[in-house]
Amino acid sequence: EKGGFETFMRKEIHEQPAAVADTLRGRIDETGQIVLDEVRMSDQDFRDVDKVFIIACGTSYHAGMVTKYAIEHWTRIPCEVELASEFRYRDPVLDRSTLVIAISQSGETMDTLMAVRHAKDQKARVLSISNTVGSTIPRESDAVLYTRAGIEVAVASTKAFLTQLAACYLVGLHLAQVRGIKYADEVSAVLDELVAAPGKIAKVIEHLDPVRQMARDCAAAGTDRVLFIGRHVGYPVALEGALKLKELAYLHAEGFAAGELKHGPISLIEDGTPVIAIVPSPRGRSLLHDKIISNIQEVKARGAKVIAVCEEGDRITSAHADLVIETPASPTLLAPLLTAVPLQEFAAELATALGRDIDQPRNLAKSVTVE
Ligand code: F6R
Repeated sequence: EKGGFETFMRKEIHEQPAAVADTLRGRIDETGQIVLDEVRMSDQDFRDVDKVFIIACGTSYHAGMVTKYAIEHWTRIPCEVELASEFRYRDPVLDRSTLVIAISQSGETMDTLMAVRHAKDQKARVLSISNTVGSTIPRESDAVLYTRAGIEVAVASTKAFLTQLAACYLVGLHLAQVRGIKYADEVSAVLDELVAAPGKIAKVIEHLDPVRQMARDCAAAGTDRVLFIGRHVGYPVALEGALKLKELAYLHAEGFAAGELKHGPISLIEDGTPVIAIVPSPRGRSLLHDKIISNIQEVKARGAKVIAVCEEGDRITSAHADLVIETPASPTLLAPLLTAVPLQEFAAELATALGRDIDQPRNLAKSVTVE
């Protein structure tokens, strides 16, 4: 049942290209419009949306953070993302024209469900993104898009995360479409890029050997902490890389917005501390690229060992980092579909080298049904 892999997590990492292709399959109709699975709200309801809140927990929350960048860029609707467990306790301002997007692989996470119920009490519309057909959160939502990742057995989320990203991009593009044709060109260009993503994810998976080696080296060196840094959509990817390492290897791992380092966390760096930097494409938003190169220089000057996840052929990054993991070129907003993958493998390999059970980490359950 593990399909020749030693663990479910490894199998699920390898299923990601097919899983993302399944998420996208048939979702774009003959007129180029994105179709949701269940919609109990009208196009007019979508057009009336003047604010979006994304609520989720854990890895799903990281998918939500990426989505905020995409939705604001494509639709110009203000979008907030919040941990479901915090959302309702701060009395958020919601009304009929607020769209709440709830992301939950299981569809049963109690924190997320309670946040959804709170949103509905305030008359907000709820759209959910879930991997589990007929689960509670989709049943209580006004619209649903299923991720179709297939059953995820390993406790640590991998393919569910990538398919959540793909589904979230579709929702963002759907919102852009129902709200007018102003962004039509951009929407169709992004759709083409999305359709190309599974092939690129497969390429990333083919080239994971250097990441595995790095992970084994870190384990052998007795590494007790790993820092992850990123900017823009690379920031949630850094958080996700750190979460994977914490839950699987039981190591102290933290993700930071790279610009925040100098405001405190840089004092964590000692000689040899591994820092994994998520580097955006040097094309396009090159300002972002320059900034992260400065951040790499800052940590290197304090002794960090820098491992950079960057676009293939990025010579500037190779000149500054100790090691580079290359991913195929991609538009900035879609890059997390690629850059998250080596971090999953890094955590799995490091944890395995430390003798951990990566499918069943201690203290964790696949579905968290208590608040
Ligand atoms: C981490 C992980 C958890 C879940 C979180 C939300 O690898 O799997 O952080 O992402 O418990 O679960 P869902 O998406 O089922 O609501």
